[in-house]
Amino acid sequence: MAKAKFITVDGVPRAYEQAVVHVHSAAVKYGASVFEGLRAYWNVERGELYVFRLREHMVRLVQSMKIMRFRTTIGVDELCEQLLVHMRANGHKTDCHIRFNALVMGEGAMDTAGPIQFACVSEERAAKPIAEKAIKAQVSSWRRIDDTTMPPRVKSAANYNNGRFGTLQARADGYSEPIFLTQQGKVAESGGACLFMVRDGVPTTPSVTGGILESVTRASLIALFEKKFGKAVVERDIDRTELYVADELFLCGTAYEITPIVDVDRLPIADGQIGTATNALWRAYEDVVRGRDNAFSEWRTPIYAQR
Ligand SMILES: Cc1ncc(COP(=O)(O)O)c(C=O)c1O
Repeated sequence: MAKAKFITVDGVPRAYEQAVVHVHSAAVKYGASVFEGLRAYWNVERGELYVFRLREHMVRLVQSMKIMRFRTTIGVDELCEQLLVHMRANGHKTDCHIRFNALVMGEGAMDTAGPIQFACVSEERAAKPIAEKAIKAQVSSWRRIDDTTMPPRVKSAANYNNGRFGTLQARADGYSEPIFLTQQGKVAESGGACLFMVRDGVPTTPSVTGGILESVTRASLIALFEKKFGKAVVERDIDRTELYVADELFLCGTAYEITPIVDVDRLPIADGQIGTATNALWRAYEDVVRGRDNAFSEWRTPIYAQR
C-alpha cells in the first residue's frame, strides 16, 4: 500500500503531515465523525481511473450527517467535486482505496455539531486474486449494534468499535473475521462488510433493516445477480445454522470487494472451496468496476477524462 502525497481538506490539497485534528475536537472526544470508504479502479487499456459509485457514497454521507445532526448545508455535488480534486491532485494511476471523512471540529460539549471539516485520504492498493481472499469466519459472541442504540445505517467511525470487539475476538481465536448476530439472534454482517449466502441455489442477504450498513456493494451485487445471472436476490432474515449448511457464503463491501467465506466456526462451507456463483460474480464485478464491461456505466466516474 502506498500513501498518497496529498490529503484534501475542505477541497484543498495539503501535504499529508499537515492534515491534523485537534485532540479537543468533538471528532476526537466523542467520535463525532462519519465517513465513506470508496474505491477507484484502474483500466489499463483506457489509461483511466474510475471511482465506483461516487454519487451513491456521497448521498449516504449526507444521510449519515443528517441522522447525526451535523451542522452543514453541503450538497452531494460539492462532495463529489472535492473527491475528484483530491484524486487528480494525487495523480494515482493504479487501484486505490479512498476514505472521505466528515469531522466535527468544534471543541464544545456533547451537543457540538459543527463546524464540519471534510478530509479525503487515498491509498494505492494492488488488486488481489479471489483465491487469496478466502477467509474463515467466527459467529461472534458480541452482538451487532442496532437502530435503537448506535444505528448501523450511519457510517459513523464510533460504530466501528462494535466491529473492533468482534474482529479482535475473532483474531485472538484464530479466525479472520467475525459474523455478528443482531440482538434478535439473526445474521447481520461482519465488522466492515455485508454478507451473502447462496442456499439451494438462491442468493440471499439480510435486509436493510437487519442491523446492517446500507452497503453500496451489496446493492450493486443484487443488481449484478439479476442482470448477469438472471437471479433475484432474496432479502430476508438468516439464521446462524443456515450459514453452516449454505452452498456458498461471501462478504461484500468496498474494502472487502467480494471475500469468500469457506469456513464458519470451524465447519467447512460445502466442500470448503470458493463456490462457482462467488467466482462468477467476482469476474462480473471486476469487469464492471474497471469498465471492461460497458454495463452500468453510470456506476463509474472517470477521474481524468471528465474535467
Ligand atoms: C459495517 C459495514 N457493513 C458493510 C459495509 C459495506 O458497505 P459498502 O459496500 O458501501 O462499502 C461496510 C463498509 O464498507 C461496513 O463498514
